[in-house]
Amino acid sequence: MTLSGLNQSLPEFVNIVEVGPRDGLQNEQEPISAEDKISLVNQLSDAGLKKIEAGSFVSPKWVPQMATSTDVFAGIRRQTGVSYTCLTPNMKGFEAALAAGVDEVAVFGAASEQFSQKNINCSIDESIERFIPLIESAKKANLPVRGYVSCVVGCPYQGDIEPEQVAAVAKRLLDLGCYEISLGDTIGVGTPASVAKMLQAVTALVPREKLAVHFHDTYGQALANIYSALQFGINTIDAAVAGLGGCPYAKGASGNVATEDVVYLLNGLDIKHDVNFDLLLETGWFISDKLGKDPVSKVSLAYRAKP
Ligand code: HMG
Ligand code: MG
Repeated sequence: MTLSGLNQSLPEFVNIVEVGPRDGLQNEQEPISAEDKISLVNQLSDAGLKKIEAGSFVSPKWVPQMATSTDVFAGIRRQTGVSYTCLTPNMKGFEAALAAGVDEVAVFGAASEQFSQKNINCSIDESIERFIPLIESAKKANLPVRGYVSCVVGCPYQGDIEPEQVAAVAKRLLDLGCYEISLGDTIGVGTPASVAKMLQAVTALVPREKLAVHFHDTYGQALANIYSALQFGINTIDAAVAGLGGCPYAKGASGNVATEDVVYLLNGLDIKHDVNFDLLLETGWFISDKLGKDPVSKVSLAYRAKP
């Protein structure tokens, strides 16, 4: 049955990029063992996730929780067809990632000068200069490079961000050789209207097939914003199991949109994906139990409460 009023241009299939083991766990203050991180990644792959951001090769002084990334990559049970990815801010991180046997790397820039300084200790221009040799080396090693743009709607230090600024940074990353640009509402301030404005500007410079969206749920707008992105034909969505996360350099930012909630939304819209919902719910409870808290996923809590 066709629902009148429901936009018919929604994608038929959505790729979910699971960022929980990296973007989710990087913000946890108490150390989580490599063993638990490995188990989380393995369960996520068993649940059908095809792209899992399993770690980050950044300075351990800046983000101590990610210092075990080499051990995580060494310990995971790699499944065929699953890409295990990571963040790399510079050549030092890239070399460590290469040695760890990652399948893909990601550079991460920002649409906000001040966030760039706080997060990676350099200006936007300097970050682009740093990414050039990294992307060249990745090309030689046959590793795809993803590009993140943080603060695509607002910045914790600068306030509102102009959509044209986001589009310009996204285009620069694309031109450098990133195969996909993930647009991050790092502090979760976006609404469907501000997100649509931003996407309009970005899609004028970057084809929508090359875009992913990355929403945090600080103000409870993440699913509405995802729906807005789906209407733009964007079919790659970042999410973190159990709604894990925050950002160490964006105080007050709450977790990523929960993968469970995204899958429930997609199921409701009859949009196909790779994920086994029941196994995903179990995985969310596994990591939440390890962290001593409930999942930040309304869907997960509702299923647990069912008689
Ligand atoms: P820096 O201090 O300017 O770097 O930091 P440096 O080159 O001057 O080096 C300083 C020290 O760090 C040296 O060690 C280096 O060896 C070491 P020392 O001589 O003092 O002992 N170092 C490294 N160690 C391990 N791995 C490396 C590395 N690089 C240098 N790769 C740097 C610059 C980029 C390294 C630092 O700022 C950093 O690590 N930042 C990462 C911050 C981070 O991970 N933030 C969270 C991820 S971004 C995010 O969450 C947003 C996103 O999810 C999207 C969204 O939500 O919107 C992607
Ligand atoms: Mg994030």
